[in-house]
Amino acid sequence: MLAAAIQANSYIHTINSMGDIMRIAVTGAAGFIGSTLTDRLLEKGHDIVAIDNFDDYYSGKMRFLEPHLKDPRFSLHEVSILSTDEMRRCFEGVDVVYHLAAQAGVRISVKDPMRSHQANATGTLSVLLAAKDAGVRRVVSSSSSSVYGNSKVLPVNEDMVLKPVSPYAASKLAAEDYCRLFYDLYGLQTMSLRYFTVYGPRQRPDMAIRIFTDRALKGLVPQIFGDGEQTRDFTYIDDVVDAIVRCGTCPDPKGRPLNICSGRTVTLNQVVKGILKAAGREDLVPEHLPSQQGDVDHTWGDNKNARELLGWTPKVTIEEGVKRFVKWYSGMKELHDQIKY
Ligand SMILES: NC(=O)c1ccc[n+]([C@@H]2O[C@H](COP(=O)([O-])OP(=O)(O)OC[C@H]3O[C@@H](n4cnc5c(N)ncnc54)[C@H](O)[C@@H]3O)[C@@H](O)[C@H]2O)c1
Repeated sequence: MLAAAIQANSYIHTINSMGDIMRIAVTGAAGFIGSTLTDRLLEKGHDIVAIDNFDDYYSGKMRFLEPHLKDPRFSLHEVSILSTDEMRRCFEGVDVVYHLAAQAGVRISVKDPMRSHQANATGTLSVLLAAKDAGVRRVVSSSSSSVYGNSKVLPVNEDMVLKPVSPYAASKLAAEDYCRLFYDLYGLQTMSLRYFTVYGPRQRPDMAIRIFTDRALKGLVPQIFGDGEQTRDFTYIDDVVDAIVRCGTCPDPKGRPLNICSGRTVTLNQVVKGILKAAGREDLVPEHLPSQQGDVDHTWGDNKNARELLGWTPKVTIEEGVKRFVKWYSGMKELHDQIKY
């Protein structure tokens, strides 16, 4: 049927390295990671069912999906994942669901825990129920390094005891548990990808690298929460999307979580230095503000399991990634008013 639809639409497609063309649903398709993933999957010839409710967390999300609106392989559904009935309809004939829709961000979860819980825990349950009912083969869900909390042992691996320190992390851990349960109880193939601070073009306006860059380009000093010696395992968007794509066809993940991280760590002070250099604003001296509630001190992941299961290697170093991001953001003046001071 899919082959017939492809022929009827008479566009040229190539069989990609992953095998057959698939019908794939992407929730949160208008977001930072979701829209980049959608681009990549369309490039590979897949049929895409894009789902997003364009929530009000930040604006301008239609921009990156707009070029696909006339593509016959692309359909956009402006609905909430909380509507299980709508999700069932969207998932008809779908092979893989990449579930990225969420209320991302630690700080908003501290202010409004119910908002995070509804989108992330209840939303994931809704997606899983609809996927099971619609006969979807696999759901690749999005978790976060924040589920590890303030682990004393670094780098963190998937076998460690988890202790979330924010409502966001707690909601992501609940979503992980639902994924594992849906595999154990109903045999739905699921996995939860624990992303470690993803950065790169299209990054959300509430994220640190974007804000540091935005301020540097506007001639404002970088504001760092804490002493800046906290470390992060930053992972470049292209590497993350490469891993996500591979999750559609890798061996049955059996409900388990997987760290998606660069496996390297850097201090915020070092990152800011790189941004100021790339922006040509080394004259700006960073200002330090009090630490924020819910933030963890260090993130550093072990990516051995992802390398083995997916045959994946992250390629972009933080030095290179920061240069690419600053160059991209400098050319995207229309996005600069998304952040106001
Ligand atoms: N960006 C990161 O560094 C990072 C790190 C760890 C985990 N994650 C997770 O990765 C996923 C994608 O993150 P992102 O940075 O692209 O965030 P994003 O905010 O850019 O994208 C999320 C998208 O989900 C949509 N959405 C929110 N609630 C919805 C609902 N009820 N129904 C339908 N759509 C809804 C939003 O409109 C948005 O387009 C999220 O699950 C996030 O928690 C991201």
